[in-house]
Amino acid sequence: MQVKKLDLNRYNNIVVFTGAGVSAPSGVPTFRGDDGYWNTVDVQKYMSADSFNKYPEESWEIINKLKTVIEAAKPNSIHDLLSRVGGTIITQNIDGFHQKAGSANVIEYHDNIHSVLCTECTFSQADYPGIICPECGSGLRPGVTLFNESPHFDSEYRAKRAMRGCDLFLVIGTSGKVTSLSTFLRAAQFENSYRIMINMDHNDYEQYFDESYTGPAQDILPVLLGVSG
Ligand code: OAD
Ligand code: ZN
Repeated sequence: MQVKKLDLNRYNNIVVFTGAGVSAPSGVPTFRGDDGYWNTVDVQKYMSADSFNKYPEESWEIINKLKTVIEAAKPNSIHDLLSRVGGTIITQNIDGFHQKAGSANVIEYHDNIHSVLCTECTFSQADYPGIICPECGSGLRPGVTLFNESPHFDSEYRAKRAMRGCDLFLVIGTSGKVTSLSTFLRAAQFENSYRIMINMDHNDYEQYFDESYTGPAQDILPVLLGVSG
C-alpha cells in the first residue's frame, strides 16, 4: 500500500477524530471486533443510564475493570505523533491518553473513565473514586456516555465548533459503528475538508475519504507524516 506523505503546512484547521484503535497498541481493548470489550458484556442491560440504578454492582464492575486496564497502560507512538500534528483532537476514547501524550486541544466526546455524575442530584466530578454521592448519598454513575445516550452538551458544542472551517479531517482507529463518525464526516464534507482515514479493518465509510489506509495506525501514521525511519 502506497502511503502519500501529507504536507501539514497546507492546512490551518486540522481536526483529528480518534477511536479505540488508537489505544489498542497500548493494550486497551477495542470495543468491537474479535477481542472487543463489549463482546464480554450485555451492554443494553449493564451499560445504559438506568443500569447504574438497577444493577449498580455489576455495572460498576464492568467500568472498574476497564479503569484498571487503562490505569496500567500508557499512551503509545500514535498519541505521541498526534501531539505534534496540532489542531483539535476529537476523541471517542475515555482513557485520557491524548492529553497525557501532550496534545493541547482535546475534546473527550464520550467523557473520561474517571468522571462521575450523581444519578439523583447535580453532583459531578472529573475524577472521583467512589460510587456514592458525597452530597446526597445516592448512587453515582460514570460520566462516560452510555448506551442510548447522547454526548454531553459541552463536548457536543465544542466538537461541532471545532469542525467549522476544518480543512483537514483525519480519522484514526474507529469502526464508525456509533453515529459520531457519520455526523463528523458529514460536517467535513460540508466544510470541503480533505479527508483521510486509517483503520485496521475496512469499513463502509472509505468511499467518502480522499485517502483511506487499511492497516495498523502505528505503522501508517509515521509514513503519512514523513517521520519514519
Ligand atoms: P470500535 O471497537 O468499534 O472500533 C475500533 C476500530 O479500531 C476498528 O475499526 C479497528 O479496525 C480499528 N483498529 C484496531 N486496532 C488498530 C490499529 N492498531 N490501528 C488502526 N486501527 C485500529 O471502537 P470505536 O469506534 O472507538 O463508547 O467505538 C466507538 C464508541 O463505541 C466507543 O467510544 C465506546 C463504544 O461504545 C464509550 O465508551 C462511551
Ligand atoms: Zn447526589
